[in-house]
Amino acid sequence: MNLEDYILSQDEEAHKQRLHNKLMDMLDLPMLQTVSSAQASEQIERLCLQLMQDSPTPLSLDSRQKIIRQILDEVLGHGPLEPLLADPTVADIMVNGCNNIYIERRGRIEKVPLTFRDDVHLMGTIERIVSSVGRRIDERSPMVDARLKDGSRVNAIIPPLALNGPTVSIRRFTVEKLAIDTLIDFGTITPAVAEVMEAVVKGKLNILISGGTGTGKTTFLNILSGFIPANQRIITIEDSAELQLQQPHVVQLESRPANIEGKGEVSQRDLVKNTLRMRPDRIVIGEVRGAEAFDMLTAMNTGHEGSLTTIHANTPRDALGRLENMVAMTGFDMPIKNIRAQVASALDLIIQLERQEDGRRRLVSMQEVHGMEGETITMSEIFTFERTGVDGEGNVLGRHRPTGVMPNFYDRLARRGMVLPRSLFGGDDVHRGIL
Ligand SMILES: Nc1ncnc2c1ncn2[C@@H]1O[C@H](COP(=O)(O)OP(=O)(O)OP(=O)(O)O)[C@@H](O)[C@H]1O
Ligand SMILES: [Mg+2]
Repeated sequence: MNLEDYILSQDEEAHKQRLHNKLMDMLDLPMLQTVSSAQASEQIERLCLQLMQDSPTPLSLDSRQKIIRQILDEVLGHGPLEPLLADPTVADIMVNGCNNIYIERRGRIEKVPLTFRDDVHLMGTIERIVSSVGRRIDERSPMVDARLKDGSRVNAIIPPLALNGPTVSIRRFTVEKLAIDTLIDFGTITPAVAEVMEAVVKGKLNILISGGTGTGKTTFLNILSGFIPANQRIITIEDSAELQLQQPHVVQLESRPANIEGKGEVSQRDLVKNTLRMRPDRIVIGEVRGAEAFDMLTAMNTGHEGSLTTIHANTPRDALGRLENMVAMTGFDMPIKNIRAQVASALDLIIQLERQEDGRRRLVSMQEVHGMEGETITMSEIFTFERTGVDGEGNVLGRHRPTGVMPNFYDRLARRGMVLPRSLFGGDDVHRGIL
């Protein structure tokens, strides 16, 4: 459905309000919850039509249908969020108070001309979403993560913490899943990078995907995980399950926050430890954020090769620093040099993603992690995005190119039967060296 077909004119809107008020007096809401949603919507529709007939100003058939649809969405669904949730091109929905709804589509953010009646209406919608996953939102717990039936991830935060009124952020998951070819079409990577990515996953390198918020880390991780051979046992660990692996042998684990009494927490760290007793071939961690970093590195260093994860960081070097901090925060009394040595020997490859100002997500660097030189971890860049400028429409110009450095993993992959064409890595301007 087109959003334009959903939005009401001022007259229609006024009509809807009147109808809605009358309807609220007539409807037996508790009873509606006991019948199927098809029955409930049939009843509401019948009542609406009846009320419309009594109305002094006649409405066109088209207007009547639009109004009824909105009322149904309000009474039984998520109100103005419904048409956005039904649109597969909407990737993100952001609500800042009842009057401001934004969406992200094809990498761009736009405001939509839809609103909630007031903050009470918005709060009601939020409560409906969070109560459906057995959680609640109120002054005592003013921040909640929840999930919609279709798997979309929802975060809500309310006043007094949110100053603009109840605030909701929805990351959609029914949006057509991106595949490696779409990443090439979108200019996120090149065919050469895609070929290397497939080989490094099959060849069991430990890979860290780094990027800021919304740069496409989870999407990239999902696509990379798709290259894991179907005969391997994959265990995924996430705070909020987003990955959708297609292989037959996948065990999905999700951490659990503490309940209102502060009890019952199962952290990602607990899950990583447990996973080691579950005979995984591959461990895929949605995002490392804390103490689990230590156990993940230990796992990578003790034979669990081919693990994949993401981290929130702006450069590969920054990603290393953050990992180090996460390990240091676990409270082990370990000299920083030893932590670094752990990181360096665990990781093989870092992929850096960026969301650039034209809304596109790009791989901007691929770096191989070598080892230590003195106190520093050494890496070398294999692919880079060379930015040359911005065109008249604000599109970032540039190209991906190999740096010409032959990665050390080349031989390792070759030993495992994956012989990549050397030309994939041979850039036009060859500069060797360790960054
Ligand atoms: N390569 C891409 N090109 C265009 N859009 C993309 C690309 N990768 C992801 N997206 C879109 O960008 C949004 C964010 O993607 P994703 O959830 O993978 O990012 P993230 O970095 O994991 O975000 P977060 O920091 O919230 O965890 C999604 O709506 C997704 O559809
Ligand atoms: Mg993510």
